[in-house]
Amino acid sequence: MVNGFDFALEAELKGALRKDFLWGYATAAPQIEGAWNIDGKGPSTWDVLAHTPGRVLDNSTGDDACRSYDFFKEDVKLMKSYGVNAYRFSLSWSRIIPLGSASDPVNEAGLAFYSDLIDELLAAGITPFLTLFHWDVPAALEERYKSMLNQDKFVKDFVRYARVCFERFGDRVKHWITYNEPGVYALAGYAGGAHAPNRSSDREKYDEGDTSTEPWIVGHTQLVSHGHVVKVYRDEFQPKQGGTIGITLSGNWSEPWDVEDESDRAAAQRALEFEIAWFADPVHGIGEVDYPACMREQLGDRLPTFTDNEKKLVRGSSDFYGMNTYTAFFVRTAVPPGSPIPPEDHKGNLLWFDENKQGVSRGAESDTEWLRTSPWGFAKLLRWIWSRYHKPIFVTENGTTTKGEHVSAPPREDVLNDTHRIEFYRSYVGELAKAVKEEGIDIRSYFGWTLMDNWEWAKGYTDRFGVTWIDFESPEKTRYPKRSAAFNRQYFKHLIA
Ligand code: NOJ
Repeated sequence: MVNGFDFALEAELKGALRKDFLWGYATAAPQIEGAWNIDGKGPSTWDVLAHTPGRVLDNSTGDDACRSYDFFKEDVKLMKSYGVNAYRFSLSWSRIIPLGSASDPVNEAGLAFYSDLIDELLAAGITPFLTLFHWDVPAALEERYKSMLNQDKFVKDFVRYARVCFERFGDRVKHWITYNEPGVYALAGYAGGAHAPNRSSDREKYDEGDTSTEPWIVGHTQLVSHGHVVKVYRDEFQPKQGGTIGITLSGNWSEPWDVEDESDRAAAQRALEFEIAWFADPVHGIGEVDYPACMREQLGDRLPTFTDNEKKLVRGSSDFYGMNTYTAFFVRTAVPPGSPIPPEDHKGNLLWFDENKQGVSRGAESDTEWLRTSPWGFAKLLRWIWSRYHKPIFVTENGTTTKGEHVSAPPREDVLNDTHRIEFYRSYVGELAKAVKEEGIDIRSYFGWTLMDNWEWAKGYTDRFGVTWIDFESPEKTRYPKRSAAFNRQYFKHLIA
């Protein structure tokens, strides 16, 4: 028993993780920084979205968020007290180059902010893990040429932005991620439409019937510009700076509803390929560089093709497999006639299914409708990714909300005692350690999502994923550690050799 946490169940996993295992928390600039127009920062597409009435669930903006721009030293202190050895955060492109393009000037104040943050982290013994793009395109690039829909222009601008970051921070930063979840960015911004730049809510475009093509173009632009940036890094910076670079993909496990049913099995496989292999096959795959065959079959020429040069750029363009994952889904081809779609419990709540396919009310345990604790799915996903791509895996995001954290400050004891989140981390990280110990899967990092409650995009402040509770009403966004932070601290001490 260490400080109230008992690892008897995990006794066998003691020391299962390598000595240099990186663990900590992840964040993204638009979700925590605030200071959206301070010290020369230009607006991003997310600022534009937030300032458009009706786009964000609670009508909030990220204007202030957690005010990490002002309180970053406090964040670092907090992390130190949480015992982490790494921190994954993103850079705001429009803080560094306010207007975004290759010919626009850089903003020294923005660069100084990140430089100070990096120094502060290093002084605290925390390894910085930087994401170049976590969904916030400079608004000027959207206005000028529709950003990622214009691949050639976008590549030039993204490469220049990346180059500035390598030049200024690469002496101290050895872990780079180009894109965070390119698939979610493409689908939520250009098909679902809840996210910036809100393309599918653009009536005119929609009427032209274009939105069914845009997500795939946007996916392609991200892959190709990622390839260009990695080439620049490897040719010009890696030899002197000696760091690693890669891309982080979203992915949740898809389980066949009926494993005995061949069509359910095929459907689950297709779901994995559409979500994960969309990017992972071109980057990490073997053989001909292309999107998965099932995508080509369904999307036809709406799916872009790779030129020879793009193939060379993209294949092998990630030193590791960057993995964001949260939950698992059951997949089936056809719902039997007469059964409610989607299924409901007796109170009319939508149902999720546990690993034994037992119906459980959706949303009963977390505030996030798409997220149900499914460590069994995480275990299967790790094996699927490892056997298909055989690359060192960096888990770059994983975490959960819990029910009922929306209370006023100071938060009640039971809110800070977030047992559901503790159980989530206990089970997922336990599966990770087992995969390493029992199967020798090469896993090198784990970043919990997230350091502190923050601006959950179009959900505003309604979903709290943090191991720190934030009083968003207070001017200084007071930080209150939740018990899960103490739990993870002890847990990783136990697991790391
Ligand atoms: C993945 C995204 O990268 C992150 O920004 C988001 O907050 C979490 N998922 C939770 O939804």
